[in-house]
Order: sequence, then structure tokens, then C-alpha cells
Amino acid sequence: MGVVPLEAFAILTARIFLKLIFAVFCILVVAVLAADYIASRFVEENYIQNMTADLGDKARMVAITLRRLPDPPQQELLTEMGKALGGRLTLVDRTGRVIADSEAKPESMANHSDRPEIIQALQGQLGSAIRSSSTLGTPFLYVAIPMEDRVLRLAVPVARVRSGVDGVRRQMLAAVAIGFIPAILLTALIARYVSARLGKIIEYAGKLAEGHFDRRIPSPGDDELGILARKLNETGEKLQRTVEQLQREHVELEKLERIRKDFVINVSHELRTPLASIQGYTETLLDGALHDPQNNVRFLSIIRQNAERLARLTADLMTLSRIELKTQKFQFAAYYVNSLITETLDSLRPMAEKKQIRLEFQPAPAHTEVFCDSEAVHQILSNLIDNAIKYTPEGGRITVAATPLNHPKDFVEISVADTGIGIPEEDLPRLFERFYRVDKARSRELGGTGLGLAIVKHLAKAMGGDVGVSSQLQHGSRFWFTLPVQDLGLSEHTSVQAQLTVS
Ligand SMILES: Nc1ncnc2c1ncn2[C@@H]1O[C@H](COP(=O)(O)OP(=O)(O)O)[C@@H](O)[C@H]1O
Ligand SMILES: [Mg+2]
Repeated sequence: MGVVPLEAFAILTARIFLKLIFAVFCILVVAVLAADYIASRFVEENYIQNMTADLGDKARMVAITLRRLPDPPQQELLTEMGKALGGRLTLVDRTGRVIADSEAKPESMANHSDRPEIIQALQGQLGSAIRSSSTLGTPFLYVAIPMEDRVLRLAVPVARVRSGVDGVRRQMLAAVAIGFIPAILLTALIARYVSARLGKIIEYAGKLAEGHFDRRIPSPGDDELGILARKLNETGEKLQRTVEQLQREHVELEKLERIRKDFVINVSHELRTPLASIQGYTETLLDGALHDPQNNVRFLSIIRQNAERLARLTADLMTLSRIELKTQKFQFAAYYVNSLITETLDSLRPMAEKKQIRLEFQPAPAHTEVFCDSEAVHQILSNLIDNAIKYTPEGGRITVAATPLNHPKDFVEISVADTGIGIPEEDLPRLFERFYRVDKARSRELGGTGLGLAIVKHLAKAMGGDVGVSSQLQHGSRFWFTLPVQDLGLSEHTSVQAQLTVS
């Protein structure tokens, strides 16, 4: 199904409105017809009953008068009485013979002994019947009363009964029609309310279908339509959250892809430089420089330097990828942090002394433990101290310190602070990225690969810790990393065997 265009919603709402109104109208019409049918039957019966009783009373009045008059009564008198009563008077004897009639000559009339009202009256009751008159052909209501040994009958055309009933029906219909107006008005109001709400829900569903997930149906209410609206709102919210999540993931993926591309370009560039150098000097040597005593040793040592550089680069890359691919197997254990640090410091001290740099240590309280891989900690510290020595002029000072932390609790911070050249503020956020260097040429000159700090960061994180740096240009830098005091359950290969060494 296609998406309903916006302008169609007004038509849609109007259509729902009309349908609701039409349905209610139909129900009302059926109800009125049924009521009319039942009521008119009831009214007719009632009317005939009353009319019968009324005609009986009139006939009795006529009987009283006739008894005082000569018998048989005069035709003209009977005719006048009949006219006054709006009916026809007939006097019949016990045998059914007509003695007198207000509208016809008695001798022209048939014997009435078979008429049901006459039979009933002869039995002493009030007789009544409705049927077509044999002489006039139109339906009549006949009422007969016993009068000594005779029967007096009064007949009125049923048309009069009908017109009476119709009058009542007309009044009833008029009353219903008046009642109809508020009913229709009320229905219109309800229909408008329902159609407007339905219209809103349909419009919202259309918006969802078009992909606008940020909208909601305001104040949906608690009835069935409200529940439907609320469910749609929930659907909208879920869709919005999913879309936002996908967008975030997309951005993240794009970022990762950029980093990956940059990395590939960086690696090939870093490899190409020493390779080109090796190739160039080898060719020079082969082209004759090999026999040039002034340069051949120098060229060879350049070749060796570049080969060493290549070896360092590939070793660092291997380390990084091992940590990232989680193929690096850590041997976790509890260590005294001071012992770990002193071991590394001892191995690096000669390098520092060569540059007349003081290497100081501010230990943590005795027996402070850390849970880590000793080789990884050694690698981190070596990288940081190696940098500190490289970027600190002769006569400087490097201070390594271990401090148990309160925040985050159960962590020990190990810092390496130097009195070196410092790092510009703007470079600090990217310092731990792979191949990021403040001064590329200087780093190369000093034999750096630009991967040291990236390795530091990855190793520290792999052991559950963190890294950071603060620096002031020309005054020095302070690098730190943290290690957990307890087993964080980071490695399946955790060696729980204690390897504590006395500090
Ligand atoms: N202690 C320090 N003082 C000043 N700059 C530093 C220090 N340590 C690191 N840096 C800067 O951070 C860069 C990245 O360091 P690193 O990843 O170890 O690479 P590399 O040492 O191979 O150059 C260095 O090139 C240098 O610019
Ligand atoms: Mg380094």
C-alpha cells in the first residue's frame, strides 16, 4: 500500500465523519419504522376498543329513546339519529329480519341472522365486528346491543377509525422527528470528535511510513483510540531510537574506516622510507662506492640503521596487532608494584646516566600490590622512560612514582615525569594515536617509530587500566597509567599463582 498524501487526510477525516453519521442515521430510521409499526398496531387496537365501547354507549342511548316512541320507528327519525351519530342505525328482530334502517328500506335488506355482531347481541352481549358492508363495499365497524327481543346495531365506516389512528401516528412521528434533531446533533458531535482523533492517528501512521519518527501524537487519552495512539507513539519512539543507534554506528564505522585507511597509508609510508634508503645505498655501493674507503663504511652503517629501524617498526606493529586481535597472551598475577618498577628502572638506568639524567623513584607504600602481566608493565614503563630520556636534555631529571588511588578505587597509578621539552597543548589529545608525533623528523632521528605510546595505551587498557598525559612546553611532561589492585577477570589465561617478590 502506498503512502497516503498529506492533503488526503482532510478528505479521509470527512469520510469517516460521514460514514459514522450515515450509520447512526440508518439505525435511527430502522428504529423509527419499527416503533411506528408496533405503535400504530397498538394505537389501532386501542382506538377500536374505545370506539366500540363508545358506539355501544351511543346505541344504548338510542335504544332508550326508541323504547318511548311508536314501534316500528319512523324512517326519517332513524335517518336523523344516524346522521347525528355519524353512523348507520339498524334494528333487527330475533330472526335476523331488518325492522328499520337509517339509510335503506328494510324490505330491500337481506336477513342479518348470520352477522357475528347480531349473533353476539342476541346472546345478550355487546357484539362487534369489522368487515366490508355488503351494500356499500367499504369496511365498517359494527356494534350491536340487545334491546328486549331485538338487536340495535350502529355502524361507522372504518375510514374514520383509520383517520383517528393516522392522527395519532402523525403526532408520534412528529415527536420522534423532534427527538431526532438532538440525536443527530449529538451523533455529529461524537462523530466529529472520533473522526478527528482517527484522522490524527492515520496522519501519524502516514508520517511513520514516510520515515518521520520524531513526531508523537499529543495527549492520546485512555480509551481504545488512546491505546492505539499510544502504541503508535511507542512504535515511533522505538523506530527513532533504532535509527539513531544505526546512525551512530554508521558514524563510528566511518571513523574506524578512516582510521584504518590512514593507518595503511602511514604504515606503507613508514616502511617505504627506510626501504628506499637501504635500496639507494646498496645500489650506490654496488655501483662502485664499495671500493670507496672514505664512504663505504658510512653507507653500510646507514643501511644497518635503516634495517634496524625496519625491524623496530615491524616488531612494534606486530605487538600492536597482537594486542588488538587479542592474540597476545597475558600472564596475569599479583605483584608488588615497587619491585616491578625497580626492575625496569635498573635496566634503563645506564641509558639515563649516559645522558646525565637523574632517574628517581618515589615508591608506593611497601607491599602495595597490582594485578597485571609483568612483561607488559615492563614494556609500558620502558616506552615511557625511553621517551622521557629522549625528550629531556642532558642534566635533566626523570621521576617515576607509584601511588595507590582513591579515584578510581583499587587502582595504582604509575607516573613518569620529566623536566624535558614538553608537548604543545594541541598535540596532547592525539598523542596516543598510532604514528602521531609532535616532531616527525626529530622522532625519526632519535630512532622512534611513533608507535610507542599507542602500544602503551593498548597494553594498559588490556590490563584494565588507563593512560593519560599532562605537559607544559619547555618545562616537562608527565605520563601516567593505572593498574588494578585485584583480578578483574580480564583474561581466560589468568595465572592466579602468586608471584610476589619482596620489594
Ligand atoms: N616525554 C616526552 N616529552 C616530550 N614529547 C614526548 C614525550 N613522550 C612522547 N613525546 C611525543 O610523543 C610522540 C609519540 O611518542 P611515541 O609514540 O613513543 O613515538 P616515538 O617515541 O617513536 O616518536 C613523540 O614523537 C614525541 O613527539
Ligand atoms: Mg617512544
